[in-house]
Amino acid sequence: MKVLSVASEMFPMLKTGGLADVVGALPAALAPLGVDVRTLLPGHPKVIAAMKAPKPVAEWPDWFGGPAQLLASENLLVLDVPHLYDRPGNPYLDAGGRDWPDNAQRYAALSHAAARIGWGELKGYAPDLLHVHDWQGALVPAYLHYLGEGKRQPPTVLTIHNLAFQGQFKTAVWPQLGLPDEAFSMHGLEYWGDIGYLKAGIQFATAITTVSPTYAHEIRTQKDGMGLDSMLRWRQAAVSGIVNGIDLDVWNPATDTLLPARYGAQDLSPRLSNKREIERVFELPADDSSPLVCMITRLTDQKGIDLVAHHMAAVAATGARLAILGSGDAGLEAALRAGAQSHPRRVALKIGYDEPLSHLLQGGSDAILVPSRFEPCGLTQLYGLRYGCVPVVSRVGGLADTVIDANDAALKAGVATGIQFAEVTAEGLLEALRRTVQLYRHHPGHWQQMQRNGMKADVGWQASAAEYAALYASLLQKGSRK
Ligand code: ADP
Ligand code: GLC
Repeated sequence: MKVLSVASEMFPMLKTGGLADVVGALPAALAPLGVDVRTLLPGHPKVIAAMKAPKPVAEWPDWFGGPAQLLASENLLVLDVPHLYDRPGNPYLDAGGRDWPDNAQRYAALSHAAARIGWGELKGYAPDLLHVHDWQGALVPAYLHYLGEGKRQPPTVLTIHNLAFQGQFKTAVWPQLGLPDEAFSMHGLEYWGDIGYLKAGIQFATAITTVSPTYAHEIRTQKDGMGLDSMLRWRQAAVSGIVNGIDLDVWNPATDTLLPARYGAQDLSPRLSNKREIERVFELPADDSSPLVCMITRLTDQKGIDLVAHHMAAVAATGARLAILGSGDAGLEAALRAGAQSHPRRVALKIGYDEPLSHLLQGGSDAILVPSRFEPCGLTQLYGLRYGCVPVVSRVGGLADTVIDANDAALKAGVATGIQFAEVTAEGLLEALRRTVQLYRHHPGHWQQMQRNGMKADVGWQASAAEYAALYASLLQKGSRK
């Protein structure tokens, strides 16, 4: 089975968050199941630089206002459109942190290109199915629908990694999208008087998945549906949740060359020298009576950063120490910085995006804190499980689905893997940190068992890849019965 995956970022070439990790790791997990995945990406300079011997396989002289080439190498197809993608830095934002003003055109260009590949316009490659990710790929099903008359119609899977990003644009760009006027309607791309990319994807995708079963449920409720819940309820039968896995080769504490000391579940003692290295890098005094809790995160409202930033004195009073690595919202950055300055022996902060440092933090911290308000899946708690870095998480979305709370029953049964809290409030978070400190200080046996349980938890891609493969197969079967 041939699947074209369509996404805006992919690890290791270009990454701003978990989407890249998923798009990078899933193809290798699908290969043994007989699914041959190629990935179509926009031609960001980092992506083009990473291609091995790229070959042009199509040329379109006027693609959304300029010349385009489709480049192929190995399992990548890259849409090289210099006037849209040849820009350094963050793929979505300009140097001032604002959305690029032509993002509507940039990702319509990607989606329309994917549709053309789906129609079989490339010599020697016609995918059986298109798997598109987030709003950046969500116009693919719409192009297939409106411009596909008389052409091959492969089924589509739309995966929603985050409902907060919907790709909503003013109607001024409409003439540039190349869609018929009838498509601007309630049953098409129209969304609250604007153009809605994710909305269109939800309307037309053959199947819709999101990245955990709990989030699949949450997004159909008014509370968490972010304006799209009624549409998602309407498409209920097509919606499912498949939890993300992680790449067990990239994230393996026994072989991770980014760690000063490597280790496995049978002997966790080398973690201590990693902790010493974190304390050195973050300039925190060593204190083995106080668990070192890390955060590796985008600094946004989604991640509940304000709960930490605005209550730093209370956080420090729980007895935990915090090492925070993050970048994003300037206001949250400033609030964290002020908190760290007031509690220099307990809280330290590094602003920036630093992949190697994220490995060190997982490999040496005692716990990782993820106090998200909503979390479609979350990957850092999965890396934490794999590294014996105990996740302390809010009970939402994928965090609810991947961590077993250390309540009395779970501790007695010996199955706990972390700590959860249900009210995503400062008090909920503080209570969770107090429980963390208590377990760490006074119940080292339970603590180590949580670490080992986490390290043995099945966080790889195998099971979830099998679910995707089964979904693809069912859609192809339905298509062939038509
Ligand atoms: P999201 O995609 O919502 O940001 P995830 O937990 O799914 O959340 O994925 C985040 C990914 O980005 C993880 O691989 C995490 O390690 C990484 N990450 C986030 N912030 C940073 C940072 N400042 N430095 C290094 N890696 C980071
Ligand atoms: C999004 C979500 C995150 C998820 C990631 C990969 O960025 O915020 O929860 O893990 O996508 O699916």
